[in-house]
Formats: sequence, C-alpha cells, structure tokens
Amino acid sequence: MKATDLRGILGYMARFRDRLFVLSIDSAVLVADNFRNLLLDISVLRSLNINVVIVHGASCGIQRLADQLNCAVSDLEGMGITDSPTLELAVTAANRFAHDILEGLTETDVRAAVTNAIVAHPAGIRKGKDYAHTGKVERVDTDFLKILLAEGIVPIIPPVGFDGNGQTFRVNSDQAAREVAESLKAAKLIFISTHNGIAEGGTLSAQFSVAEAENYLRDRGTQLTADLRSKLEHGLHACQKGVQRVHMINGLQDEALLGEIFSNEGVGTMIYANEYQSIRPARKRDVGVIMALIRDAVAAEELVPRSRQDVLDQLANFYVFEIDRNVVACVGLRLFAAEECAELQCLFVSQAHENQGIGGALIEFSCSKAKALGCKWLFALSTQAFNYFQQKGGFSVGSLEDLPSDRQSAYEASGRKSRILVRKLSA
Ligand SMILES: CC(C)(COP(=O)(O)OP(=O)(O)OC[C@H]1O[C@@H](n2cnc3c(N)ncnc32)[C@H](O)[C@@H]1OP(=O)(O)O)[C@@H](O)C(=O)NCCC(=O)NCCS
Repeated sequence: MKATDLRGILGYMARFRDRLFVLSIDSAVLVADNFRNLLLDISVLRSLNINVVIVHGASCGIQRLADQLNCAVSDLEGMGITDSPTLELAVTAANRFAHDILEGLTETDVRAAVTNAIVAHPAGIRKGKDYAHTGKVERVDTDFLKILLAEGIVPIIPPVGFDGNGQTFRVNSDQAAREVAESLKAAKLIFISTHNGIAEGGTLSAQFSVAEAENYLRDRGTQLTADLRSKLEHGLHACQKGVQRVHMINGLQDEALLGEIFSNEGVGTMIYANEYQSIRPARKRDVGVIMALIRDAVAAEELVPRSRQDVLDQLANFYVFEIDRNVVACVGLRLFAAEECAELQCLFVSQAHENQGIGGALIEFSCSKAKALGCKWLFALSTQAFNYFQQKGGFSVGSLEDLPSDRQSAYEASGRKSRILVRKLSA
C-alpha cells in the first residue's frame, strides 16, 4: 500500500465518520475466496468509525444443502413460494452464513451480533398462489439496531424475518437491506454481488441519477438479469426515500469495497439522489478546487483564464456540483440586472464525470436561477463547446448586439472571438 492511498482515504474520513453504511452481501460472495478480504475491508471501515450493518443472502447455501440432501427447493431468492422443507434449508443456510461472517469479523477484532431485527408478515396469496413461508418485511426494529450500533457492534441481518407469534419467514435480502437502509437513514446502501454493476454494451455505467435509473428500468430493465434488476429497483426506491447513494459492486474483486467508497470514480455503479441537491453556491474553500478543476480547460483555451483572486472576487456568482461531497463541476452566473439578462460563465465538468448530464443540469439550474432573478434571457460565450450549447443546452447563435454594452467592449477587447449563444427564458 502506498502512503498516498492513505492520504486519499484521510480525505474521506471526516465525511464518513459516524455515518451508516448498509452492506447487502449476496451468498455467492460469501462462498467465494475473496470473502475474507471483504471482511478485512469491513474492518477498515469500522476502524474509521464508519457504522456498518450487514444484510446477507442465503440462496447459494440453500442450493448447496438441497444438492447434498438430494431434495428439491421451491424457491431460492425469497421472492417465490417457500414451502416448509425450503424454509428449513433457508434457516440452516442463513445460520451457517451468519456464523461465517461472525467468525471472519472476530478474526479482525470487530464485534458483531446476529439479529432478529426484521419483522415480517406472510407474503400471502397472490394471483391464487399461496406463498406459504415467504415473508414481506413489515418493519425494521431500528431501536434494537441503534443500540448495537451505539456500542460499536456490527448487526448481522440474515434473510429471515419473524412475526409477533415467533413464526419465521424467508425474506429477500435485497428488500431487507433496502428497508434497513431507509429505516436507519443510511448514508449508503451497497449491494455486493458477483456483478461489476450495470453494464451497457460491455461498458460499465458508473453513475445514474434517480431519473436516469427510472428511465433505465422502464426502457431496459427487462434486459437485466433478475438479481441485478432487483438491486436496481430496490436501490432506486432507497434513493427516492432519502438514502443519498446506492452502490453496486463486485464482491469477487479484491478491494472493490474500498475502491468504491474511497475514490472519486468508484469501481461499480452508483445511483445518486436528486441531482439538484448536488448543486450549491461555491464557498471560499472551493476556490482552490475550482482553480484545479478548470486549469486544463484554460490551457486548452476552452475557458477564459482566471486568477485565484478573480474567482474569489466573483465567488458569489459561482456554483459547484458535488458528488459525495467532491466538487466535480462548476458554473458561474453573472447578472446584468439593468439589461434583464445574465451570462453563463465558466461551465466545466471534470473529465471523469462527463456525459452524465451534469453540464445539462448546471445549465438548467442557471436558467431557473436567472429567471428567479428577473432575467429574460441568458447568454454564453464559447470557443469550443458552442455545438454543445446549441444541441444540448437550448441556446441559439446570437450576435454582438445581443450582449449588454459593457460586455460588448470586453468581448472585443479579449480578442477570443468566442461564439455568442443566447437562450430566451420563458415567462
Ligand atoms: C461542454 C461540457 C460542459 C459538457 O458537460 P457534460 O456534463 O459532459 O454534458 P452533458 O452530460 O450535459 O451532455 C453530454 C452530451 O453533450 C455532448 N457534448 C459534450 N461536449 C460537446 C461539445 N463540445 N460539442 C458538442 N457536443 C458535446 C456529448 O457528446 C453528449 O452527447 P449525447 O448526450 O448525445 O451522448 C464539458 O465537456 C466541459 O466541461 N467542457 C470543457 C469546458 C467548456 O468548453 N465549457 C463551456 C464554456 S462556458
């Protein structure tokens, strides 16, 4: 390990300390060689005072037991019909996996406890089919989980639920993890499976906003494997209910958990809650970040050169876009009150986050801000992204006369010969 890795992690420590991450681990990961490494990564999270709840699956264990006993199972995932023999196998498999997790965490001095925190009721009869011992999560015993977390104990939640009469039900672990994350207002819900995330045409989709995840599910959800679809559906639900980030990572990949959490780009797929919440006014401490962000674009003459003092002087005009509290994009909005217009300036999206709609979101944000300030139109000057403004941003080509008179002289003096782009703001 390099010292710089540690420095990188340090940058995240203040942000994640005392926050809660819910880890949903598929059973295929629990039986894989990399499982011990994953437990080590979990102990790293604990050592950084990140609270962790582990929810785990059981399907691989159920199948393995059924093979050994040469018997049939009615359902593996806790979503179909669970007959009595399958429930028996599920309980045995869940106990075994919970024990394996306890064993591994004990090895790294992490205190953990298996819980009965899922309160369930029967899934019931649907379309004439009795789901027997399959359960639906009714609620999560958050008081109990909070007591454990307050004592630094990692709660382990098996994929079974209990009702008030002591009956046991098989529940789906993705659903259970989502309910736990929502009820405890977790900062992150992380699905750890044998998939890298959601891939399109062989390329991994690194991030989805909630709206994009909704569109993806609607348009292409049927092309996903059942287990990935389940994670996307439950992840989306969690984001809509206030969990800020949902991640999908491959638990067979060494260091995937740490790589996803402690890097800007991540290694899997992430769904993030409401992108407008990600835009905020720039603060003094963002100046250095903005300067670093735009340095290459200034060198490539995409953006006008600005000194640190320039940015500081105009700080009130700057907005930044954050992902996981990292500034990944910025925009400036300069008001010309007398002319009832504003200039959109210094729009920049870091290369690692391009093509995810962030530029578009910042343009829309600037438009609504300008409108709220009484502007009738917005203009932008661009040397290299003029097609973007026209094709994606709703701007059309303008002329020098469209600029406020002060701005006309500054435009001519700059000699940059930028294209002038104008967008009318509807009433
Ligand atoms: C231009 C820029 C802001 C776009 O940001 P972004 O977040 O990647 O853009 P979005 O995700 O909203 O849109 C992506 C789409 O725009 C297209 N696009 C990106 N840059 C483009 C350009 N210069 N010309 C034409 N289209 C462009 C992409 O191909 C993509 O098209 P698709 O939706 O058909 O796949 C970003 O590339 C950037 O920071 N460029 C350098 C700085 C700059 O020129 N700023 C403008 C001066 S004020």
